[in-house]
This record gives sequence, C-alpha cells and structure tokens, in this order.
Amino acid sequence: MPLLEVREVSTFYGRICALDHVSLDVNEGEIVCLIGANGAGKTTLLNTISGVAPARHGEVLLNGAAITRTPAEKIVGQGISHVPERRQVFGSLTVMENLTLGAYSRFRRDGRASINNDIENVYLLFPVLKTRHKQLAGTLSGGEQQMLAVGRGLMARPKLMLLDEPSLGLAPLIVQEIFRILADLRRQGTTILLVEQNARAALRCADRGYVLENGRVVLSGAAAELSESELLQRAYLGKRNHRNRSG
Ligand SMILES: Nc1ncnc2c1ncn2[C@@H]1O[C@H](COP(=O)(O)OP(=O)(O)OP(=O)(O)O)[C@@H](O)[C@H]1O
Ligand SMILES: [Mg+2]
Repeated sequence: MPLLEVREVSTFYGRICALDHVSLDVNEGEIVCLIGANGAGKTTLLNTISGVAPARHGEVLLNGAAITRTPAEKIVGQGISHVPERRQVFGSLTVMENLTLGAYSRFRRDGRASINNDIENVYLLFPVLKTRHKQLAGTLSGGEQQMLAVGRGLMARPKLMLLDEPSLGLAPLIVQEIFRILADLRRQGTTILLVEQNARAALRCADRGYVLENGRVVLSGAAAELSESELLQRAYLGKRNHRNRSG
C-alpha cells in the first residue's frame, strides 16, 4: 500500500477548478517530484493533501485511511509536514524557538528531552543553524531561512514531507546544498513529495515524478524516464540534451 494516495482529486477556488481529477501516489521512502509551469496547480495539490485547500471531489489517503476532510491541524499530528512556498518562518522568533514550535504536535507525547534531541539532529543536518540558534529568524539570509523552514518541518517527525519549492530564489550553491540535504533525508528514511520549478535538479534527486498542466496530470513515471521525455525536454528542461537536434 502506498504511504500517500491521491485519488481523482478535484479542488476549486470558488468556481475556478485548480485541480481536475488528479491521481498520484507516494511510496514509503521515495522522493516524488511534481513539475509544472506557474499556475499549474502544484501548490494547490500540496495544500489539498495537507488540508489547507480541501478537495471538493476525490479522496486523499494516508496509509490507506482517508484524510480528505481531516482539518489541517490534525493532519500534522497524523504525520504529514508541509513546508510551504516562500519559507514562512516566524521572523520575530529565534532559530531555536522556530524549531521548537515545529514540534508542537508532539510536545505532550514526547516531552522536552526528545525535542531537544531532535533540535540537535536538525543542527547536524544544517550546521549553519546551530551557529545562529539565538538569532531572530527574520534576520537570517534567504537560504538560511529555507533551511530553517525545512528543519522546522522535520521537527514534527513526519512520515511524509511536502516541500514547496525549497530552492526558490536561492543562489546555485545553496540550491545544491538543499538538494544534498534532501538526499540525506531520504537516506534516513523520510518520504518526500517535492514541488520544484528546477525540473532538472528535481529529477536528479527524485525516484519518480508527475507533470501537472492546468490542474491535470499529463505525464508521470520514473525520474530517469521523465528526463528523457520529449514533452519535458521541450517544456521544462530546455533543449540542451535533445537527442534529435539537427546540426
Ligand atoms: N486562493 C486562491 N484563490 C483563487 N485562485 C487561486 C488561489 N490560489 C491559487 N489559485 C489559482 O489556482 C491555480 C493554481 O495555482 P497554484 O498556486 O496551485 O499553482 P502553482 O503550480 O503552485 O504555481 P507556481 O509555480 O506559480 O507556484 C492558479 O490559476 C491560481 O491563480
Ligand atoms: Mg506554487
């Protein structure tokens, strides 16, 4: 059974149909990427899974159980951590306070010691955050804020992480760093559904991918196959690797 199943989901904003019968699944331990142009519905799909923009039709299942109409705050407790677009950290709180808040859904269950231990683990993954643990998050650089947003998502000990454009607006070296960390997370057993405009980098680190256009899945498959597909090469990867190029 897949960890996450999205079955024929349609999501609307008023009368606007943003997702049209979308189906997708994510198996435990996989990195699956979602590729698509601006406005294709990628963020909406993550918001539908995390309960922020619930589906009007269709079902979302986590470990076989429907969460389609579960409120967002309960979905976190069930093991889905959503790191939204544009690194929304709490700017007036410190790095450490942001990380602690990421664990709020497990405070009562796990207690302070276990949470402190997980903060140390986040610092191992992102050493730069440790050197800045008392700094206000709003004064971190863009890349540092992105790392903090991912770190905060990890603090909930999710079964599944939804990451919305973690590389957006970052310098190439930091982007590389983010993708290196995603690979580390996968090795540690975290399952990830990743939205990326940087299709090339996403397909390099993902196992499988789905391509969204106008709210519909138009293509899906193994990452290696998708990198070779005509449609992707034309629309999202540029023509650099085009095999049938003349001259
Ligand atoms: N709150 C909203 N109210 C009305 N329409 C919305 C809302 N949020 C998104 N939309 C519309 O739904 C469609 C899908 O938007 P979405 O944000 O999911 O796209 P996206 O693939 O994440 O794009 P981007 O790459 O630009 O982030 C767009 O046409 C957008 O204008
Ligand atoms: Mg988006």
